Amino acid sequence: MFQENTIFQNETQPGSHQELQEWVNKIAKHCQADQIHWCDGSDEEYDRFTQMLVDKGTFIRLDEAKWPNSFACFSDPSDVARVEDRTYICSRRKDDAGPTNNWVEPKEMKNTLEGLLKGAMKGRTMYVIPYCMGPIGSPLSRLGVQLTDSEYVVVNMKIMTRMGKAALDMLGKSGEYVKCIHCLGAPLEPGQDDVSWPCNPTTKYIVHFPEDRYIVSYGSGYGGNALLGKKCFALRIASAMAKEEGWLAEHMLILGAESPEGEKTYVAAAFPSACGKTNFAMLIPPKEMDGWKITTVGDDIAWIEMGEDGRLYAINPEAGYFGVAPGTNTKTNPSAMETIHRNSIFTNVAVTPDGDIWWEGMTKTPPPNLIDWTGKPWDPNSGKPAAHPNARFTAPAHQNPVIDADYDNPKGVPISAFIFGGRRSTTVPLVYQSFNWNFGVYLAATMGSEMTAAAFGQIGKVRRDPFAMLPFTGYHMADYFNYWLQFGRKLPNAPRIFGVNWFRKDEDGNFLWPGFGQNMRVLKWIIQRVKGQTAAVESPIGWMPRYEDMDWTGLDFSREEFEKIMTIDSEAWKQEVSSHEELFAQLFDKLPKEFPYMRELMRSALWRAPKVWGQAAER
Ligand code: OXD
Ligand code: MN
Repeated sequence: MFQENTIFQNETQPGSHQELQEWVNKIAKHCQADQIHWCDGSDEEYDRFTQMLVDKGTFIRLDEAKWPNSFACFSDPSDVARVEDRTYICSRRKDDAGPTNNWVEPKEMKNTLEGLLKGAMKGRTMYVIPYCMGPIGSPLSRLGVQLTDSEYVVVNMKIMTRMGKAALDMLGKSGEYVKCIHCLGAPLEPGQDDVSWPCNPTTKYIVHFPEDRYIVSYGSGYGGNALLGKKCFALRIASAMAKEEGWLAEHMLILGAESPEGEKTYVAAAFPSACGKTNFAMLIPPKEMDGWKITTVGDDIAWIEMGEDGRLYAINPEAGYFGVAPGTNTKTNPSAMETIHRNSIFTNVAVTPDGDIWWEGMTKTPPPNLIDWTGKPWDPNSGKPAAHPNARFTAPAHQNPVIDADYDNPKGVPISAFIFGGRRSTTVPLVYQSFNWNFGVYLAATMGSEMTAAAFGQIGKVRRDPFAMLPFTGYHMADYFNYWLQFGRKLPNAPRIFGVNWFRKDEDGNFLWPGFGQNMRVLKWIIQRVKGQTAAVESPIGWMPRYEDMDWTGLDFSREEFEKIMTIDSEAWKQEVSSHEELFAQLFDKLPKEFPYMRELMRSALWRAPKVWGQAAER
């Protein structure tokens, strides 16, 4: 790709990494960028760029008293979310990408991209963003360099990663890095006016070349399509690196739970998109349990490695939160509301003429005179939301009032449990513990979630989302399951694995569980299980708490209500287990041999179980 190798004339070169320098120049020349800017990552640079975006009409500066140093912007209606159908894993062999990823032969894809990128940054500056995923200086951290023609991306990357000089220094003269090219696909001819959200409305490609540690993104300026450190690097490329190098790159939040006795336990939890990961990561325990304290290490991604003591240690590779705004409020997530209160960017929210913002669920009553995310006056009776359902905030992690003291610790934090959860209105109980590591891998591999507006496909339908990694695994999904099984074998005392479901409903469609802060009760049981401090009963699908094993102080939640939310309907579960077949059939040639065996064990336990397995029946 990119045969021409003439040094581009317009650059300013701050680093001394010859290979990087040559690559930067080559891409700038091929894309015919007007100029190159190497980002230093300073606050002064950030301020300059946000002002530039205000001057261009992309950003609206929000009211300084209400939202200090914060901005709102609206994307093009064609560019509002990750584009999974335009996302490719172009490994050398198709079989390494597997049936759940789009694949094109890498040479062919490189030719296509080379064609698209030729002259595609005309009239624009190409920004060079050296960045570090993970704490600066951590052996778990990895480096990337993103080239982009989007100022929006530069300022978002400043929040989401450790970028600029510190990363360039870490790279040194010959350090390894993941090459990331991002192009809006919206060149400007001389004299042509720019639009407020440049992108390519018809052609989008998000492409990963795992063996080359190389990412090219074309045509979109939004979120995970454009901020390449996040899903593209920290999950898709990193998962492939991790498998080769013996660690894990996971779609997991990391939280610390401190007991009233001052004992700290860290857990990592995987939930599909739009299941409240940020809320769980910033959970505020109910006041009756206020001896407990939750702190956030990360809200979306965990990189995990075995330490010398045989325990697993995790870092959050990100430095900020790119969270879904709708539904966030001072009740559901007060810490998030405080985090986003300043130095933040809001994309596709609704705004008021006086520089305030709003989204569905922020307050009961919307402020008057709202302008919706499409830039039009909003009619509350229109039936249309004022903010896009996938509207986002970008906010620095260090502003989180409950940030964990070890969030930036290069050593990471020790993980004691893995939690997997989806959005399931039926069938799946509030909490259960898998019998062992292998059953836990099976549980995670077969987890499903009902789709929402922010996720994909038909609303309400269960989508199997193994490990919440379906859109994010950079290689064959069945190889990933095998890798997890193998990874567990070398752990002297593997973290325990749990399934949770905050979203079960009754026959009338009402949630059975209050959720949010009350999830602390479930977390407490999980932590006590890990420490061998509480009992459980054996159910057909795993270990479960009895009513008396949970802390109910201050919550009016009856034994009957608990039994309802913990019930295992054997018929529904038999169907559930049968539906795993669909995933297995798709991955048949590489499926772990253990899986059909574990499925049959579960089946026979369900055949033996009463029609409705519940603790009342057990007693
Ligand atoms: C996210 C996602 O944005 O998972 O974190 O979609
Ligand atoms: Mn995510």
